Amino acid sequence: MHPLTAALPSTLCYLDGEYTALKDARISVLDRGFIFGDGVYEVVPVYHGQPFCFEAHMARLDRSLAELQIANPLTPAEWRAIAMRLVAPGGDAPQSVYFQVTRGVAPRDHAMVKGLQPTVFVMVNPLPPVADAVRAKGVACVSAEDFRWQKAHIKSTSLLGAVLARQISVEAGAAETVMFRGEWLSEASSSNVWIVKDGGVFGPPKDNLVLTGIRYGLIERLCAEHGIPFALRRIARDEVSGADELLLSSATKEVLPVSTLDGRPIGNGRPGPIYQTLYAAYQEAKQRNAQQQQQGATTA
Ligand code: PDD
Repeated sequence: MHPLTAALPSTLCYLDGEYTALKDARISVLDRGFIFGDGVYEVVPVYHGQPFCFEAHMARLDRSLAELQIANPLTPAEWRAIAMRLVAPGGDAPQSVYFQVTRGVAPRDHAMVKGLQPTVFVMVNPLPPVADAVRAKGVACVSAEDFRWQKAHIKSTSLLGAVLARQISVEAGAAETVMFRGEWLSEASSSNVWIVKDGGVFGPPKDNLVLTGIRYGLIERLCAEHGIPFALRRIARDEVSGADELLLSSATKEVLPVSTLDGRPIGNGRPGPIYQTLYAAYQEAKQRNAQQQQQGATTA
């Protein structure tokens, strides 16, 4: 057995109403998530024991489920209660909650079966912060054609495109694969991509070609709070290579500066001032969210 398989954690997870050790949780081989990738998921960071941007993640879960014509089996309060039960008690270290819903179990047939009992799975993982030394230097990325499908806005568990895209950067020793559809920037294998030009932050439009990260709304808000111009529009390949700064964002990376793309420096090849401002603002937003939620408020 592979050592990683042998070392699955025995921390609790939630599967279909039961709390069991992660290493012992089992689903049917006919689960449509297993057979077709017919399911959706969310990854929600938890800081100081409190989920961050929880309502926005729940809203996106609803949007993804609606695309699959699956009714959300739980209310946001129920999702939150499960997450809070799994979050390591007392621990202040960052964690991430993984929520997954699949269509459920049925004999294999591509057609959507209506009325199945969805399979619901929730686990919590440690969320190790990106090392300060990495943040100080920025990360290397490589580019690739975006060969994924046309429904990238669905946070689907069908992630083969993302796995193949990520492996391109793994094999190049880089942190992410920045993808283009022809001339136009889309996103990275598991992060959104932003350019900084002349003091403004620009990202690709919210359409079917990218996953609208929860950090879309957050970065827009942080930019507004700091007087940084922000716009969503199509971004051409040469605007990316000619950007002053290039940033990745995701639940796990927060905002992360890119120092090189395909071996060529972005800007002066070092994390820039807009990154520094947004990163500091992001840390404040995390603190504020935890304080507000500890005081009983629910907004991030
Ligand atoms: N990935 N684009 C893609 C393709 C992603 O998979 C992700 C997140 C994002 C950023 O979205 P958000 O800001 O909501 O995290 C953009 C998660 C973290 C994952 O699959 O683990």
